Amino acid sequence: MDTNNVMPVGVFDSGVGGLSVLRCMRDELPSENFLYVADSGYAPYGDKQAECIEKRAFTITEFLIGEGAKAIVVACNTATAVAIAKLRSVFDTPIIGMEPGVKPAIAETQCKIVGIMATTETLKSEKFRLLVNRFCNGCTIVTQACPGLVEQVERFDLEGKKTFQLLERYVGELLDKGVDIIVLGCTHYPFLSGKIQEIAGNGVKVIDTGVAVAREVRRRLEAGRILDDRGNKGNEQFWTSGHVDNVQNIIRQLWKGDVVVKLLP
Ligand code: DGL
Repeated sequence: MDTNNVMPVGVFDSGVGGLSVLRCMRDELPSENFLYVADSGYAPYGDKQAECIEKRAFTITEFLIGEGAKAIVVACNTATAVAIAKLRSVFDTPIIGMEPGVKPAIAETQCKIVGIMATTETLKSEKFRLLVNRFCNGCTIVTQACPGLVEQVERFDLEGKKTFQLLERYVGELLDKGVDIIVLGCTHYPFLSGKIQEIAGNGVKVIDTGVAVAREVRRRLEAGRILDDRGNKGNEQFWTSGHVDNVQNIIRQLWKGDVVVKLLP
């Protein structure tokens, strides 16, 4: 076996949202070790300037590669939309990103109207515009920026009044336009998918891309012959640029494990 196979996979997000992707990767890739950076000191990315997001993406990718990452997963739609092309042009390491699930949504919509919930920065990106142009296939794509939602997840306020009011407003806007599919275009939102489904009702399907991305990571590791297939149980290490105790407390609840979070150097 190549020694590279036993090296970890680096993962980052503006905060804890990428844990929704990490849990899919843990299921899909049980032997892999993961390094996770929650850039909570800089969250949310969604209302930051593109240059700032790009700088953070570079700093964190460099850190993860320095820690031995054999591949990087940008578990953040916003950072993917803004920075992945430049990351790929600089680093040789395989870099896998997120993309709102426009393609599966178009394949499944009956009424030909699809709703996308994402951050302002994702929705205004060129990458998103190209994605919609490529796959919309004559359907109507209704976008909904959702300021405030990332902050609620970062506080682990998944069921409180303010979270519910924000969701009612954002999901309500999409329902008013007649959508029958809602795409979760931000990795924080799967932690709210139960509430989103409750508000949207049974006639609307909610789509998350975490599982598809985890499969893509497997494909990329296999193609590069760097998949860890020793059959052992992989582990996770966590860092944050935010308040370590607070972030650790939230990660423990979302990850449902007694993890230790270190300060990002
Ligand atoms: N999880 C990030 C995403 O997928 C949230 C971005 C933010 O921090 O606003 O877009």
